[in-house]
Amino acid sequence: MPRPLIYAANWKMNHGPDAAREFIERFLAVTAPAPDRSLWFFPPSISLAPVSRAVGSRPDILIGAQNVHWEPKGAFTGETSAPMAQEAGARVVLIGHSERRHLFGETDDQVARKAVTTLRAGLVPLVCLGETLAEREGGRTEQVIVRQLEPVLDKVPAADWARLVVAYEPVWAIGTGRNASPDDAAQVHELIRFAVGRRGISGRVPVLYGGSVNAGNVLALLARPELDGVLVGGASLDPDGWAELVGLGMAP
Ligand code: PGA
Repeated sequence: MPRPLIYAANWKMNHGPDAAREFIERFLAVTAPAPDRSLWFFPPSISLAPVSRAVGSRPDILIGAQNVHWEPKGAFTGETSAPMAQEAGARVVLIGHSERRHLFGETDDQVARKAVTTLRAGLVPLVCLGETLAEREGGRTEQVIVRQLEPVLDKVPAADWARLVVAYEPVWAIGTGRNASPDDAAQVHELIRFAVGRRGISGRVPVLYGGSVNAGNVLALLARPELDGVLVGGASLDPDGWAELVGLGMAP
């Protein structure tokens, strides 16, 4: 039995309610569930409810929010909370994506607090880690990954560690067309598992790879057993292309 794979689509600021619903209708029409893979969709928060309604009861699909605030409610204009995302149909939350960290100044501490609030709302946090090009070239990849991971493990109660999912997304690979090689990705995935294992967390924390994944490189990446799936931006925006990438496209 092959390990179950997670294919996560991060739509970023694309596909408002109508376009998102149309995407799902088309995707459902051209695919059927496969028992060995789970498909996670991260629409913009305004499209969460329509996407969730359109997906209906398809058992292989989970909907996720791209971001939540660390408080469950309050005077935080423009923000969405984990309980609200849950109410709109989310079961997963993307936490600490590099665009949040680098464009919106999210700190390691805020990322950790968001993971905690996500778990409290009964949702799965998909925590994103990754080094910049300068950090990689300076030989600091390991240090950066550990620095980003430790605050999450410090704040999340040990009883919830088994519910964490991690994505390794090197910043230099996101949206650049330059993916990490399967070997490079596998090496960092092992490092993440080692850092988690050092804290006494038993069991295998799923680790996804993200950064310029497309239909042409996904098989080589997933051939490495260290990868439990992929997190995909640009190549997840078209329903037929996404069906092909996740291996559920119709034969030509
Ligand atoms: P990309 O984005 O696939 O467009 O590189 C990945 C991500 O940001 O999650």
